[in-house]
Amino acid sequence: MSLIKTIELPEFGDGRGDLVSIEECRNIPFAIKRVYCLYNLGSHPRGMHAHRNLIQLAFCVHGSCRFVLDDGNKRESVVLSRPTEGLLIGNLVWREMHDFSDDCVIMVLASEHYDESDYIRDYENFLEASVEVK
Ligand code: TYD
Repeated sequence: MSLIKTIELPEFGDGRGDLVSIEECRNIPFAIKRVYCLYNLGSHPRGMHAHRNLIQLAFCVHGSCRFVLDDGNKRESVVLSRPTEGLLIGNLVWREMHDFSDDCVIMVLASEHYDESDYIRDYENFLEASVEVK
C-alpha cells in the first residue's frame, strides 16, 4: 500500500479566478486545531521529523515542492504543485520537504495544537518507535 495518500478538494473557478474550499470533517477527515504556513524557503530541506500523535494535511498553495514520506519500511516521494491537492500525513511517518520553487508556499492543517514533545526529530529514534507499534 502506498504511503502517498492525497485528497482532492473541490475547486470553483470562473472568469474571475479560482477558489478552493476546505471544510473540517466534510472534505478532510479530521477536526483542524492548527494551521501553519511555510514560505521564503530556500535550499534547506524542512521537516526531517515524525510525530507520535498528529494527522496533517499539507498543500502547496503556490509554486511546488517535493515531500518524502517514510514509514520505517519504505520511502516514497511526491511533488505537490496544486492548491487543490492535499497530502495526508499520519502519525509515525517521517516527513521531509525538498526542492522548493522560489515562489513555494506550503499550508499545513493539523489535528493537534503545537507540542514539541510530540516530535521525533532523530531518525534512529523514529525507527525504534515505528518498530514498537508494529
Ligand atoms: P518545525 O516543525 O521544526 O519546522 P519544519 O518541520 O517545517 O522544518 O518548526 C520550526 C520552528 O517553528 C520550531 O521552533 C517550532 C516552531 N513551530 C511552532 O511554534 N508552532 C508550529 O505550529 C510549528 C509547526 C512550528
